[in-house]
Amino acid sequence: MTTAETPASSAQCSTTRPASRPIPRAGILDIAAYVPGKHKSNGGAKTYKLSSNETPLGSSPQAVAAYKALADSLELYPDGSSTSLRAAIGKAHGLNPDHIICGAGSDEILSLLAYAYLGAGDEAIYTEHGFLVYPIAIRAAGATPVVVPEKDLTTDIDAILAAVTPRTKMVFIANPNNPTGTYIPFDEVKRLQAGLPANVLLVLDAAYAEYVRRNDYEAGIELVATCENVVMTRTFSKIYGLATLRLGWGYAPEHVIDALNRIRGPFNVTGGAIAAGAAAVADKAFVEAAVEHNERWLPWVSAEMEKLGLSVTPSVGNFVLIHFPDVAGKTAADADAWLLDRGCVLRQVANYGLPNALRMTIGSEEANRAVVACLAEFLEA
Ligand SMILES: Cc1ncc(COP(=O)(O)O)c(C=O)c1O
Repeated sequence: MTTAETPASSAQCSTTRPASRPIPRAGILDIAAYVPGKHKSNGGAKTYKLSSNETPLGSSPQAVAAYKALADSLELYPDGSSTSLRAAIGKAHGLNPDHIICGAGSDEILSLLAYAYLGAGDEAIYTEHGFLVYPIAIRAAGATPVVVPEKDLTTDIDAILAAVTPRTKMVFIANPNNPTGTYIPFDEVKRLQAGLPANVLLVLDAAYAEYVRRNDYEAGIELVATCENVVMTRTFSKIYGLATLRLGWGYAPEHVIDALNRIRGPFNVTGGAIAAGAAAVADKAFVEAAVEHNERWLPWVSAEMEKLGLSVTPSVGNFVLIHFPDVAGKTAADADAWLLDRGCVLRQVANYGLPNALRMTIGSEEANRAVVACLAEFLEA
């Protein structure tokens, strides 16, 4: 072994000399890492996981069968272009597959958009209680997040437009928004697009679109089809029940798809996700059952919370934001601890600027009833 090949001594590898070790780019260490919903309770005979807006209905049997069928060919790389999946999404939604990109969750699409369109000196706007992946993606790309106020826990188009500067390159809105559950009508989205400079990319994150039952709502398909600066992102993690596979997609003008395809990993979607996703998006009955379940239990949970004296932000998604009094012993954090001890795992949303609220996913009938019963005891205790 030559001197050059001699392994460095442990003294040379010491981690006690920060100046001599690799340091991330400026801004990376300012990022607050995403905190996912808890998986586990602290007690209770059963655990009801209502912390990440997953569906209580499992996955489409067709999707499960397609996933299992892949078990005999795990040695092969998947199709790097997700061709069959894009075709299935295109067929289900009436879209040209050439304008679709698939990713490891819509999170990946959001990050790819930030990497492709943002850099040092750029600003990207998101709203006060917007999804916390946006600031991570913005900062990771070296740009500056600009947070604008909401009105009644709802995206405020005028506030967004007022925050646009020559540095603004991107606007992220979740419609409906997580964790508030509120939405803005299509007219408002159109007004936003019309008010933005043509070089600003508008990202419409429609992770919960399938749940929305409002005549004035449009997920983004129409705007993407007619504008050069709009992208819609969607997910298989929520109503399709495929969260563990990490699968999402974006619909965008061809020039945006082209940019994202240049920077994504060559095999960014697994074979299992491609197969299961293509089957899931074709299983309309499964989606309809999930919508029906939500239509039944979302109003029920909201009404029961109100009966308990807890206000709920009107939601069009598969979750509700429940507000607690700022009174010692009865706060959102106290309620969360009480619920966790009894098997009910909800989501604290203080990091979303909502310290007095918990977000609850609409679960199975059993789970919904369990949370209501636990909260009734909590408030009486
Ligand atoms: C608004 C919003 N966008 C995107 C996502 C990310 O979904 P995915 O699992 O596809 O990465 C979520 C998940 O919680 C979400 O709530």
